[in-house]
Amino acid sequence: MWKMTKIAALAVGLAAAMSASAGEVEVLHYWTSGGEAKSAAELKKIMQSKGHTWRDFAVAGGGGDSAMTVLKSRVISGNPPSAAQVKGPAIQEWASEGVLANVDALAKTEKWDDVLPKVVADVMKYKGSYVAAPVNVHRVNWLWASSDALKKAGVASMPKTWDEFFAAADKLKAAGLIPVAHGGQNWQDFTTFESVVLGVGGAKFYQDALVKLDDKAINSDTMKKSLETFRRIKTYTDPGAPGRDWNLATAMLIQGKAGFQLMGDWAKGEFIAANKAPGKDFQCAAAPGTANAFTFNVDSFILFKLKDAAAQKAQSDLASSIMSPEFQEVFNLNKGSIPVRTGQKMDKFDDCAKLSSKDFADTAKSGGLVPSVAHGMAIAPATEGAIKDVVSQFWNDDKVSVADAMKKIAAAAKTK
Ligand code: BGC
Repeated sequence: MWKMTKIAALAVGLAAAMSASAGEVEVLHYWTSGGEAKSAAELKKIMQSKGHTWRDFAVAGGGGDSAMTVLKSRVISGNPPSAAQVKGPAIQEWASEGVLANVDALAKTEKWDDVLPKVVADVMKYKGSYVAAPVNVHRVNWLWASSDALKKAGVASMPKTWDEFFAAADKLKAAGLIPVAHGGQNWQDFTTFESVVLGVGGAKFYQDALVKLDDKAINSDTMKKSLETFRRIKTYTDPGAPGRDWNLATAMLIQGKAGFQLMGDWAKGEFIAANKAPGKDFQCAAAPGTANAFTFNVDSFILFKLKDAAAQKAQSDLASSIMSPEFQEVFNLNKGSIPVRTGQKMDKFDDCAKLSSKDFADTAKSGGLVPSVAHGMAIAPATEGAIKDVVSQFWNDDKVSVADAMKKIAAAAKTK
């Protein structure tokens, strides 16, 4: 009899312990497209399996501009979520407000310094302490193609140079297809622009002009050529591009209506979510002229200071889950990106991801690894916003001359 009582008491104790450690995580993100939502669902699943409650705080809008506006108002009103999808130098800006939690203890136990590339670990830290956890490495300088469209137009292989790209685009046009699927936000324009700058000028020029914001580079002939090339691409887009979301542009490739899209590899997440296979239904290649370079975009979650102990425990479990090899695999298989942990097995990944993984490692050694400006990895958010606006004005208004655009970029680069 006493045995039964003891077991019952143990069971009650266990249940109490479990509920004491179960908390809620409210997670702000902007992963609302098909592939993105499937990826976010994996994080929710893993947290629920640990007994926590997931409160989804999704703010639609590719690139995250709307999400950042909503986040600011929540934090200002003293009611931050547990975590928010924030990356690059914006992490430092949030940390300097004194609102982020220090997760060094967990990072130490789990040896984050050993498993993260230093270039990534540094971005996750503020004054030497971890305040964010990274989920992936996206490559931005990709060119995607619809295999059907290429076949219809008689384009035999993916273009390696901008000349080859325009020759293929002409063939797509002649076949009655939309050569380039493009969307309508400034970050989409800049995603194309930075790939053009990288392809025309190379990694060193990209660093000088777009990261160091060097006046001479911005006013150079190479920048002139980049802007001319960028403007030429627009002539291959359709009149429906303004205002279009990036995933709807990808859908045009999935449906075989358009040939190419210049977009980061979250586009692959869309193809995969639509059951399309790389190499068969769609093609991936480095954007023209950029095979030896890699524009990186690392998604991460900043972690806010919380008062409630159960919520703190749930937050710590969230950070630990994000960094686990199991999550890094399943999340990135859906998201189109690659795991950020070094030494992670790639056998379940497709050829696009394998190429990305190889190029990430190679370009880290060669100097071809550069941060994406379009995706908040390179410069202060205010400067980034100002340059993006100027580049989009140039894209949208043919009356803005190349010379004027160069002057305006140089002026925007001085925005603090
Ligand atoms: C983010 C990706 C996201 C994409 C489109 C990028 O800035 O890093 O995670 O899928 O925007 O929303």
